[in-house]
Amino acid sequence: MNYRHSYHAGNFADVMKHAVLMALIGALRRKPSPFCVLDTHAGVGLYDLSSTQAQSTGEWREGIGRLLDAPPGSQHAPGVENWLEVIRAVMRDERAGRLSYPGSPALVARLLRPGDSLVCCELHPEDQQALRHLFRHDPRVGVHGRDGYQAITALLPPRQAKRGLVFMDPPFERPDEFARLGTAIMTARQRFPAGIVAGWYPIKHRAPVRAFINGLKDAGQRKLLTLELTLRPPLDPSRLNGSGIIIANPPFRFEEEAREILASLCRYLGDGEADFRVEWAVPE
Ligand SMILES: C[S@@+](CC[C@H](N)C(=O)[O-])C[C@H]1O[C@@H](n2cnc3c(N)ncnc32)[C@H](O)[C@@H]1O
Repeated sequence: MNYRHSYHAGNFADVMKHAVLMALIGALRRKPSPFCVLDTHAGVGLYDLSSTQAQSTGEWREGIGRLLDAPPGSQHAPGVENWLEVIRAVMRDERAGRLSYPGSPALVARLLRPGDSLVCCELHPEDQQALRHLFRHDPRVGVHGRDGYQAITALLPPRQAKRGLVFMDPPFERPDEFARLGTAIMTARQRFPAGIVAGWYPIKHRAPVRAFINGLKDAGQRKLLTLELTLRPPLDPSRLNGSGIIIANPPFRFEEEAREILASLCRYLGDGEADFRVEWAVPE
C-alpha cells in the first residue's frame, strides 16, 4: 500500500477519468428510478491541491490547472463544462486558501439524488478514515475499509437499487493489476448484469493494454467500449503517456458524448501531441 493518490490528484488522467465519470452519472440521472454506485478504489474523496504532496509533483497543474486557467470565454464540450461547474462549486464550498479537488467519491456524492446511493471501498487506513469523516453526515454514502475487488463479490448486486455503476480505479502498483482488473470486470458483470462497469487503466505502452483488452474479448465479453486519451505516442514505457477507461455495458450512445468530451480535453492537455480514441473493442 505505497500508492497515495494525493500526489497525483487532478492530473491529466484524473481529468479524463472524472469528466467521463460525471457523464456516466449524468446518464444514470436521466431516469427517475434510484441508482447505486460502487467505487471499489475510492481514495480520500477530496484532495487539497495546495498540500505538500500535491505541490511536490505539481501534476495537477498540467491537468485541472490547465482547464481552470483557460482564458475566459474558452469553449468546452457540454460534458466538460458540467464537470468544471462541479469543480468550481466544490472549490467555493471549501475553506478559503485551500484548493480542493473532488476525487471520484466526492464527485459522485455531489450528483446523488435523495434515493441514490454510493458505496466506497478504500484499503489504506488513513485514506479510509478521511473518507469516513468526509461523509459522516451523508446517509446515502457507505464507506468500507475492505478490498474493492472482494467487494464486487460481496456487495453486488446492490441491495439499494436495480441499476447503477461499478467504478474501478486501482493504483496499478502491482504487476498483475491488468489481470486483476479484467477478472473483476467479468465478475462484476456476472453479479450485476444490468449495471454499467467501468475500469481505469494506464497507457504506458500499447502491449499490456492490447493484451488486457484481448483477454476480455477472448473470454467472450461483449459490449465493451474503450476510451483513451494520450498526451504523446505511447512509446516510452517508463512514462504515463495516456489514460484509458474501459466501459462494459455503457449507456445508449455514450460513445458520441465520450468523443466530444475527449476531443475537448485534448485541446487543453499535453504539449500539442494529445490525441484520443473512442472505440468499440467488442460491440453488442
Ligand atoms: C487511484 S487511487 C483512487 C482514486 C479515486 N478513485 C479518485 O478518482 O479520486 C487508488 C486507491 O485505491 C486504494 N487501494 C489500493 N488497493 C486497493 C484494494 N484492493 N481495495 C480498495 N482500495 C485499494 C489506494 O489506497 C488508493 O487510495
